[in-house]
Amino acid sequence: MNLSWQVAFSALMACAWGSDLTFPPGFKFGAASAAYQIEGGWNASDKGESIWDRLVHENPEMIGDRSNGDVACDSYHLWQRDIEIASEIGLHFYRFSIAWTRILPTGFSDKISEDGKNYYNRLIDGLLEKGINPVISIYHWDLPQQLQDLGGWVNPLIVDWFSDYARVVFSLYADRVKTWITINEPTMICDESYNTGFFAPAILEPHISPYVCAKNVLLAHAKAWRIYDEEYRPKYNGEITLANHLIWYEPLGEEDFELTELVRQNLVGRYSHPVYSKEGGWPPSLEKHMEEVSRRKGFQRSVLPPFTREEIDLVKGTFDFYAMNHYTSRLVRKAEPSEHIGSFPLNGAPDLEAVFEKDPSWSITTSHWFYINPEGIRRQLAWLRKEYGDIKFWITENGLSTTSGLEDRERIEFYRDYLKEVLLAINEDGQKVTGYTAWTLMDNFEWNDGYNSKFGLYEVNFTSPMRTRRQRASARYYKQIIDTHSVPKSPYDDL
Ligand SMILES: *[C@@H]1O[C@H](CO)[C@@H](O)[C@H](O)[C@H]1NC(C)=O
Ligand SMILES: *[C@@H]1O[C@H](CO)[C@@H](O)[C@H](O)[C@H]1NC(C)=O
Repeated sequence: MNLSWQVAFSALMACAWGSDLTFPPGFKFGAASAAYQIEGGWNASDKGESIWDRLVHENPEMIGDRSNGDVACDSYHLWQRDIEIASEIGLHFYRFSIAWTRILPTGFSDKISEDGKNYYNRLIDGLLEKGINPVISIYHWDLPQQLQDLGGWVNPLIVDWFSDYARVVFSLYADRVKTWITINEPTMICDESYNTGFFAPAILEPHISPYVCAKNVLLAHAKAWRIYDEEYRPKYNGEITLANHLIWYEPLGEEDFELTELVRQNLVGRYSHPVYSKEGGWPPSLEKHMEEVSRRKGFQRSVLPPFTREEIDLVKGTFDFYAMNHYTSRLVRKAEPSEHIGSFPLNGAPDLEAVFEKDPSWSITTSHWFYINPEGIRRQLAWLRKEYGDIKFWITENGLSTTSGLEDRERIEFYRDYLKEVLLAINEDGQKVTGYTAWTLMDNFEWNDGYNSKFGLYEVNFTSPMRTRRQRASARYYKQIIDTHSVPKSPYDDL
């Protein structure tokens, strides 16, 4: 069967077992990873130390199984096998990140590592040879420790440090890489880290840092976007944006509607309104709320640092599409007087006096923070369009964590159910979703969960020196999704 026949046939089959389960022409499928989680080679050649290298070595007790990413999947040496498995699945693209410290050992652009540069050159060229488009995240949480020692993301100078690094990366790879993510998940960098102290750089300071960091991340993204736009787009015509981690928040009761909207503005709006709205700047409701909270706490100025007019204009419009990482949902209610409020963004929002809960119908995964609610992805997309207009979306991460095993029925059902919701968003709501990215290609170092939470389409044997990768049932199902350009029945549906 030729391809168009295959697509038409599968569309017919899809119609036969439900509503239209076919993806629009041109819809792209990929899988994602991140440098620290897979590469290993933490001190190979002249690589510098990152904040994750520092955290796992100095605070092993913060990692569930006291493991680290020193070797991880050893992709620093086994990158050819990674390309092979991406090709086995038939991915259209592979999203990976660049380790800042591998390219710039000092964190600054005074010295570019020859070995670091070559590592990513080989990976990019190898993917292209197999017809797989490389999608690069320039930053996926592994800040050079040297920059952290100077304050990291709360020092406004990071805007220049990051944009210098981004320019180096563009100069090396923009001739072949057409899709770019500047910064992955600002909420993890700014909120989860400073609100818990359990995430690199292991600093607990929830009052000021999350907000200062948010502003600096947005300015850094914007500056990198503008460098691409002015210096590289004219030659290479690629696309670039930042990737946001969006938890879908639902009100617990009718009376929690307004509060939930404010919570959405604090997560989604804080990192999206400055970039995607017509007016730019912070979401007005959040800005007003944070002024009041700051005054009540005794500060002379808002802890959410205002943007100048110039900064608003610098950040506004710095996107080519909306990149959405999505996994989970929460219910929002008002905190009782003197109730303990968990940390933002997963458990509550102390500055908003909001507590987050789970719906009893959502099942828990191997990751303590992750409850399954497929409808959340469609509702989140609808909210984004209501706020920012009819923009183009890519799902840049979505996937399930499980324990070990090759027959991963739950993961197949997860992809089936979430992708059905993505299709409803496209076909029923008319959303422009143009790509989907499975998290992740293979099991990896899942940050504070170590190697206990497995998100991979491929299983990795972490006790084997060869770090053997083996195909899971979900990898075959994902391949079938890609080959048929639709959501096929799960192999378990008839059991
Ligand atoms: C690199 O780190 C490993 C531990 O992961 C250590 O055994 C080795 O000596 C280090 N190599 C260098 C060159 O520092
Ligand atoms: C993982 O590798 C080790 C060492 O090579 C081997 O003994 C073990 O059987 C492997 N585990 C699986 C599940 O294949």
